[in-house]
Amino acid sequence: MIIAVDGPAASGKGTIARALARHFGLPHLDTGLLYRAVGIAVLRGGGDPSVEADAIAACGFSDGMLADPALKSEAAGAAASKVSIFPAVRRALMDYQRIFADQPGGAVLDGRDIGTVIAPDAQAKLFVTASPEVRARRRHEELARMDIATHYESVLTDIRARDERDMGRATAPLRRADDADLLDTSDMSIDAAVQRAIALVENRKKR
Ligand code: DC
Repeated sequence: MIIAVDGPAASGKGTIARALARHFGLPHLDTGLLYRAVGIAVLRGGGDPSVEADAIAACGFSDGMLADPALKSEAAGAAASKVSIFPAVRRALMDYQRIFADQPGGAVLDGRDIGTVIAPDAQAKLFVTASPEVRARRRHEELARMDIATHYESVLTDIRARDERDMGRATAPLRRADDADLLDTSDMSIDAAVQRAIALVENRKKR
């Protein structure tokens, strides 16, 4: 079974996808890491993530890079969002994701276009979201736990900018697939959201 989990930045989709993978015994791919690897490779090479040629040149990163802690930074997230608007970058990362999705037994993938582009035939699709304010608060708290000083307002501004780019791009924009179940986690604890996600997937399995 392929489980596609899409949603905006800091919606909780990564936590939910990991929990689903554990619960159903499936391998998991956080596809945002691929775009983050391209973004970081551009920055390290002294390039500009908004310049198409720089972004394309950075697509040949090594697998080892996917474990680099620098990928978790806010700078990597912003650079990823910028390189991800280019169709050639999306194409370069497509095979990796499709091969992962098509492995025997299935897989869980989370990202922005899994249910719409990468695995449109996925048996279970979740669109995980929360209000920008709730997502900014969660990200702000997460950064504070990592001893990274930020202001809530600037986190909120970043989240809104990322939403606009991810939803507004021409190729594979973030959107809910017609057959995806909506999971709004704004008023939910992590545990409640995970339990709801498991129930939604169980329901899809029965169909
Ligand atoms: O999920 P994330 O925050 O790690 O993703 C970082 C950026 O990568 C996101 O802002 C847009 C891009 N991305 C994408 O375009 N398609 C995906 N499937 C995953 C991420």
